[in-house]
Amino acid sequence: MFPCDFAWGAGTAAYQIEGGWQADGKGPSIWDTFCHEKKGRVFGDQNGDVSCNSYELWEKDLECIQQLGLTHYRLSLSWARLLPDGTTRHVNQKGVQYYNKVIDGLLACNVSPMVTLYHFDLPQALQDQGGWKSPGIATLFDSYAKFCFQTFGDRVKLWLTINEPYVCAKLGHEDGIHAPGLKEPGIAAYLAGHNMLRAHAMAWHSYNSTYRATQKGAVSLAINSDWLEPSRAEIMRSAIDAQSKKLGYNGSSRLPSFSKEEPAILGTADFFALNYYTSRKVEPGGGCGKALSMKTDRDAAEVLDPSWPICGVSWLAVVPYGLRKLLKYIKYTCNNPAVYITENGFSQVGPLQIEDVQRSEFYKDTVLEVAKAIQEDGVNVRGYFAWSLLDNFEWADGFSVRFGLFHVDFADANRRRRMYHSGREYAKLISEYKTLS
Ligand code: FCB
Repeated sequence: MFPCDFAWGAGTAAYQIEGGWQADGKGPSIWDTFCHEKKGRVFGDQNGDVSCNSYELWEKDLECIQQLGLTHYRLSLSWARLLPDGTTRHVNQKGVQYYNKVIDGLLACNVSPMVTLYHFDLPQALQDQGGWKSPGIATLFDSYAKFCFQTFGDRVKLWLTINEPYVCAKLGHEDGIHAPGLKEPGIAAYLAGHNMLRAHAMAWHSYNSTYRATQKGAVSLAINSDWLEPSRAEIMRSAIDAQSKKLGYNGSSRLPSFSKEEPAILGTADFFALNYYTSRKVEPGGGCGKALSMKTDRDAAEVLDPSWPICGVSWLAVVPYGLRKLLKYIKYTCNNPAVYITENGFSQVGPLQIEDVQRSEFYKDTVLEVAKAIQEDGVNVRGYFAWSLLDNFEWADGFSVRFGLFHVDFADANRRRRMYHSGREYAKLISEYKTLS
């Protein structure tokens, strides 16, 4: 049912779990600044200064990974921990040692790392020079990427350059609800997104020309997409157009300079890395003021289906079958690529529920949909990464929204980790499906 080399994983990101925000020579990142400089940006004015303290407690994370029986673990590198001012002029050896310990620790347990180079945390020093809006950032990212390929690529074989360029660009540069907190209507988010794609492509080409032959790994970028379901057959076309836009095929790009660079950007993904969380229904003609209307386009509106259960956070309707449909859509529109589901999860809010039965059901249902996508639809799915290994700092929601397979007690000095029922369920699924493959 699942190929025997299927990647069973879980993911995290540096700023969300590491803490140690100024430990051992780390430079500040835009998330450090975003949380510290002004009140009212993050739930309860919380920050990631300590979070799960994985900077010190990474061996505890390894224990969690082993308890789940994962074959893969997705982590991100903090650019500012490795290169405090963002450039290779100054390398923080303590940062290199930290990631070496984690990567070697994973390999010693027979777990393969999937490494994200950039998960929302730009070095503040580079933000001070214009950040993602400035075209020069692409070259700086490329140097950072080459440094990482050179330093860790003998052991890391799966790379993601940038996590969710859409989210970084839009939430960070237009909505102002993520770092760097810019609320600039107009072209800012497009410029940032454009430079992220240029940066990604440069790094992919560097890997391709310099490292691929010896390191034999693969490089992609993680794209977030919801599934858009036509509410009625006759509006299929609007749903397909909207879905294409979600996946980034926006024919009416407002960036005139884009086309010039397209040849260098096209084809710069060795696999399709998909972050999927939720689905929307597409209604014709603007959705007409419905309370559940999320977004309105010229010809169509995205709405939530009232029959879909909502999990902890309001944007998250739980629709496991949407993942299967999206995978099939990717198969047919993107020429049957190898796909890794690099994030998928279900959050809870409110009082601690270690026996989180609803989340356990969610993992069971979702993994079954992935199995059907492979077996019945012939989608080339190579791996599934639950988000997240641990409860962590959920960006603007702080610690109020919990996505972990392990509960983390943030009031405890030792940040005790405790497996949720959903963690046990995921471990069970992995071991059962492994024996079938
Ligand atoms: C994604 C992010 C990840 C996490 C999940 C819930 O957009 O990549 O860090 O916050 O959402």
